[in-house]
Amino acid sequence: MDKRVCVVGCGYIGLPTSAMFASSGCDVLAVDLSERVVDNLNAGRITIEEPGLAELVADAVAAGKLRAALAPEPADAFIIAVPTPFVDDGSRACDLSYVMAAVESVLPVLEEGNLLVVESTIAPRSIDDFVVPAVEAAGFRVGESVFVAHCPERVLPGKIIYELVNNNRIIGGVTPACTAAATELYRAFVAGEILQTEAKVAELSKCMENTFRDVNIALANELAMVCDKLDIDCLEVIRLANKHPRVNLHTPGPGVGGHCLAIDPYFICAKAPETARLIKLARDINCGMPEFVCGKVDAHFAARGIAPRSAKVVALGVTYKGNIDDCRQSPAMDAIALLEERGYSVAVFDPHVEQYGCSDPKALFEGADLAIVLTDHNEFKGDALGEFVTAMRTPVIYDTRNIVSAELAGAQVYNFGNGYEF
Ligand SMILES: NC(=O)c1ccc[n+]([C@@H]2O[C@H](COP(=O)([O-])OP(=O)(O)OC[C@H]3O[C@@H](n4cnc5c(N)ncnc54)[C@H](O)[C@@H]3O)[C@@H](O)[C@H]2O)c1
Repeated sequence: MDKRVCVVGCGYIGLPTSAMFASSGCDVLAVDLSERVVDNLNAGRITIEEPGLAELVADAVAAGKLRAALAPEPADAFIIAVPTPFVDDGSRACDLSYVMAAVESVLPVLEEGNLLVVESTIAPRSIDDFVVPAVEAAGFRVGESVFVAHCPERVLPGKIIYELVNNNRIIGGVTPACTAAATELYRAFVAGEILQTEAKVAELSKCMENTFRDVNIALANELAMVCDKLDIDCLEVIRLANKHPRVNLHTPGPGVGGHCLAIDPYFICAKAPETARLIKLARDINCGMPEFVCGKVDAHFAARGIAPRSAKVVALGVTYKGNIDDCRQSPAMDAIALLEERGYSVAVFDPHVEQYGCSDPKALFEGADLAIVLTDHNEFKGDALGEFVTAMRTPVIYDTRNIVSAELAGAQVYNFGNGYEF
């Protein structure tokens, strides 16, 4: 394909997407507000970590197919891949300001026949209610003189290059002509199925994918709290229930984090606050898990007559999931903050996060009364903590990720199976 493609926003999504279009023959301009990103890119270097991306970008830049700039230039297709956080007020609605600023930056160079695609995750109806009016206010007729579509991204960090090519892709146009134009563009490198629909369906499908997972995790977390009250082994309940051919209970944990599951459900709630009750409740349950976990720690020490300020706790893991370095919206961070607020002395260890790394982890366990596992890093799994627990004053582990061997030598291990005894 020999189209000119302009990608606005060169982060985890925009940069790999730029590289994929460039390697399939398009002339790509990657636009970012950050001079650092633009300068590095023009030198063939990348500023994010993603396997396989550095080579792809270096090759595309060397071949003259990819270059970067601070502002959009005329192209056949524009792709918006800028952040969509939630508004930092009670509503937690989708903050469209980055998307709209990116759209506004494209309008001066938009020409008849062009295609404009929003890849950023956006609340349902954002394209119809905000993007289309902005484009039409600039003098275009969407579906006639320019084409607008939403094409949400589903890639998993760490596997982005593979998934960009192989994942099925939802393409939702404002009109069938818009869907057709976007489909033709993405066929440049997408080998997965292209699922054509309307923009608002594409928007809500993307938000619901993450919401589905959030709600199911909330159900498992609620079960864990019910089991705790009733002295029942939650993990055994899940194991047995999942033997049913149509049941798949998820795994409980200390909460839900990251920049997708912990954010996108709010986009739906904010659009239909009286109606999206289950989605909001699931968010509340998951956000309450750090408090539940800390309540368990309180009860554990209170039962032994130990005040928080006399107890030393080792917190294991700060990231929102295992074997990554991403702390965004991490429930582990929330749990640590709550423990500190209560007066516990907390030593934090995370081998994946520079700030919390430690060359001598055993020293952190010295004299500790409790180790609490908050992230499922490989470094904490099975018997891995065995070499450290010997340094503890009281070798007790509270494993909120259910990854430590229940028979770990020299330690008493509690998880969501026997947590009611903790
Ligand atoms: N990262 C993921 O795994 C993932 C997965 C699926 C969907 N998404 C969605 O994709 C979107 C982008 O996420 P990301 O992780 O790539 O974000 P990111 O923060 O990694 O990158 C965004 C980039 O956009 C740039 N930017 C912001 N405003 C700009 C503007 N007006 N003009 C030009 N550049 C601008 C920033 O400087 C930054 O480099 C978000 O909506 C996110 O929810 C991300």
